[in-house]
This record gives sequence, C-alpha cells and structure tokens, in this order.
Amino acid sequence: MTDVLLIGGGGREHALAWKIAQSPRIGKLYIAPGNGGTRLLGENIAIGAMEFEKLAQFAEEKKIDLTICSVDDPLVGGIVDFFQSRGLRIWGPTKAAAQIEGSKAFAKQLMREAGIPTADFAVFTNHDDALHYVHDHGVPIVIKASGLALGKGVAVCRTLKEAEVALKEIMLKGVFKDSGTEVVIEEYLDGQEISIHALSDGKTHKLFPVSQDHKTIGEGDTGKNTGGMGTIAPVPWLVPEVLSDIETRVVKPALDALAARGATFAGILYPGIKMSSSGAKVLEFNARFGDPECQVYMRLLKTDILDVFESCVDGTLVSQQLEWDSGFAANIVVASGGYPDTYKKGLPITGIEEAEKVEGVVVFHAGTQMMENVSPSLVTSGGRVLGVSALGAILEEALTRAYEAVGRIHFEGMYFRRDIGAKALLL
Ligand code: AMP
Ligand code: GLY
Repeated sequence: MTDVLLIGGGGREHALAWKIAQSPRIGKLYIAPGNGGTRLLGENIAIGAMEFEKLAQFAEEKKIDLTICSVDDPLVGGIVDFFQSRGLRIWGPTKAAAQIEGSKAFAKQLMREAGIPTADFAVFTNHDDALHYVHDHGVPIVIKASGLALGKGVAVCRTLKEAEVALKEIMLKGVFKDSGTEVVIEEYLDGQEISIHALSDGKTHKLFPVSQDHKTIGEGDTGKNTGGMGTIAPVPWLVPEVLSDIETRVVKPALDALAARGATFAGILYPGIKMSSSGAKVLEFNARFGDPECQVYMRLLKTDILDVFESCVDGTLVSQQLEWDSGFAANIVVASGGYPDTYKKGLPITGIEEAEKVEGVVVFHAGTQMMENVSPSLVTSGGRVLGVSALGAILEEALTRAYEAVGRIHFEGMYFRRDIGAKALLL
C-alpha cells in the first residue's frame, strides 16, 4: 500500500484526490490543506502549501511513500528540492525547472533561444521605458507581470489608456508586489487558446489529450482574466498532425532547453498555446496541471494515477501506458458573484447531491469549507467555488449533463459562464 500526501486545496486537488483514492494501491491519503471536498476522500491536514518544514516533518512522521505537488507557488519556491534533500519521495519539478512558470522573462528568453514560436516581446524593469515601448508599438498589446499572480497578472490592453493603467498598477503601485518588478510586454495574438499537458520523467514525455480552458470571466471571452472558468477535453477540432507539430516545435525543445540548462523537468509541463493565424504560438509555460484542466483529465484517465506518478518519480515513464476514456469531459466552474474582484465568503451551498445524480457528473470542490454545527454545513470560501464535471460520449452530451447539474446547485450570487465549450461545438 502507498501512503500519499497531496499538497494544495483547490479544485485541481479535489480532482487529483478523487482519482488517487480510486487506486487499488492507495493506503492513507492526506491533503494539505485540502478543502470541503477532499475531506470526504482522505484526511485534511491544517498545513499550508508553503510551510515546507512542517510538510516535510509530517511526511517523515507518517512515513509517506509519495508526496504530490501541482501548485505553482511551492514548486517555484523549491518544495521538490526541499523534500529531495530530506530523502523524501516527491512528484513535481525542481525549483530550477519550475522557473519556466515562475518567471515569464526566463520563459520568453528560453523560447527565443530555443526557437519556440511565441509572441514578440520585450522585458522592462523601468516604468518610463515600458511606457515608451507601448506608445511606439500601439494597441492591442499585452502586459504581464513577470512573476506569479494567480493567473491575474496579465492585461490584454485594447486601448492606450488601458495599457497605461496596467503599467501604472503593476510597476508603480505594485499591485502584484515583487511579481511585478519586471514586466513582459508582448504582441497581441488572436485565435483560439488550447492547453497542452506533457508528462515527463526527465527522460521521456507523454502527451495528454488537448484541453481548452475559458480564461475570462465574461461570456464570449470578454472581461477580466481569471484562473479559468471551464474546460473541455479533448478539443474536437484539433487534428493529430497539429498536435504532433506542437510536440515537435514546443514541447520537445522546451524540455531539451531546460535539460541543457541543468534544469531537467519532471512532472507536468503545460504550455498554453494560441492557435494564431501564423500558427501555434506559446502564451506561457506552467510547471503543473492546469486548474480546471486537471478536472477533465482526471475524469478521462482510465489508468491508475499512482502508477503514472510513480513512473515519473522512478524514471520509468517510457513503459507506462496512459489509457483514456473514448468520450469527452467538460468542467463548468461555479464562482462567487464578484470574482475575480471582491466577493463574499461563507455562503451556504446546496444541491450538490442532486447535481451528482445526473448521469456522468462529479462535482469537484474548489473554494468550499465544511462548517461544524451549521446546517447546511458546506459554505463558500473562495472565488472559484465548484467545478461541475461530466463525461459524455460526445462533447455536446458532456456539456448538457454538466449544465443540467449546475442548474441543481445554489448559493447566493453564484456565477458561471453559459458558453463553456460553445466555440468547439460550432467548429
Ligand atoms: P498567461 O498567464 O501568460 O497565459 O496569460 C493569461 C491569459 O491572457 C492567456 O490565457 C490569454 O488568454 C491572454 N493572453 C496572454 N498573452 C496573450 C497574447 N500575447 N495575446 C493574446 N492574449 C494573450
Ligand atoms: N487553467 C489555467 C491555469 O491553470 O493556469
């Protein structure tokens, strides 16, 4: 039996815990800190994802066989190196490898050197220089805080005024703190966005089916960027030749370039790609599973996830099969009214049991918390509250089931996009 410590507490971690709990080899499952959903699958531990010393001590005391971390902050902060230095077995990339997500400036430079297709860009640490560059290049233009900012550090600016405000907020007001001392300014790319996930053990990589997230808060891909409002997988219009082209021109050179820098990547490399009129171009690299991409992957994956994780840690991915459901999965994010700006917390949630009665549906918790001695006892505790996932033989069926289930859930001010997957159905 394998005892597992899973780090994190979002919808992605509920989906991972749900899948890990199905392994015939799972012993004890602990989630730190977990959420209202993970507590039904294992034991939530009140240790934060950045408390490396406490987490390592816990893993030592409980003789954890495998720790899994797919959260950006601890990965970029070096949790994998920390655990490895204590002789603890952990799945995820090292600090050096996770830089590909932790610093957009590093990622862009790596892409430039490796010839990976990406938007033209420049990097600035001085506000006035950045402002001149924006005035020279005109709009639309994209301004990014170089460091981590919960998916919110990117401003797609359609007017000069918007660009000026973004530069002021990031570089002068410091709304993203140190993450914004360096900014990347890049060419705006038009086209559909897709998420690629490549699993790597440092020697071999294997691609997951392609998924598509919906990043903005508003329907029709409008409004502010969020962590992601809903996903589908696989993406029906993406033909295998295009995927294999992305593998050759993006995934392989990125992994090779990291290895050449002494930063061999093991874990999930997730490039976000824009299918622009001039071909596939990388928007960013992440060093972890997407959230909510992970939710649709866990629904589709048929292989024991512990086998998959252990093959990465042990360097035996080459002989590990990945088997996928032949259908489609959709995941609709149900968010707090007001997200990604301010929103209320502590609002009672009802209807999850009813939602899960719809065929093929599993509801993943993200920002939820279980209250003692209160009825109903599940309350909201974050911006993205739930991920309502469904499987279907065809994409339309998965979406219909997911939306029917969403209709059975209620909390005050709940918000969700009604057009998840709609673009893919039209093509
Ligand atoms: P990132 O964190 O760099 O992936 O950016 C967040 C989101 O902003 C992306 O998922 C895109 O929707 C959008 N975005 C980022 N870069 C660009 C770009 N160069 N052109 C158009 N949209 C972009
Ligand atoms: N779904 C977008 C992300 O995880 O970055």
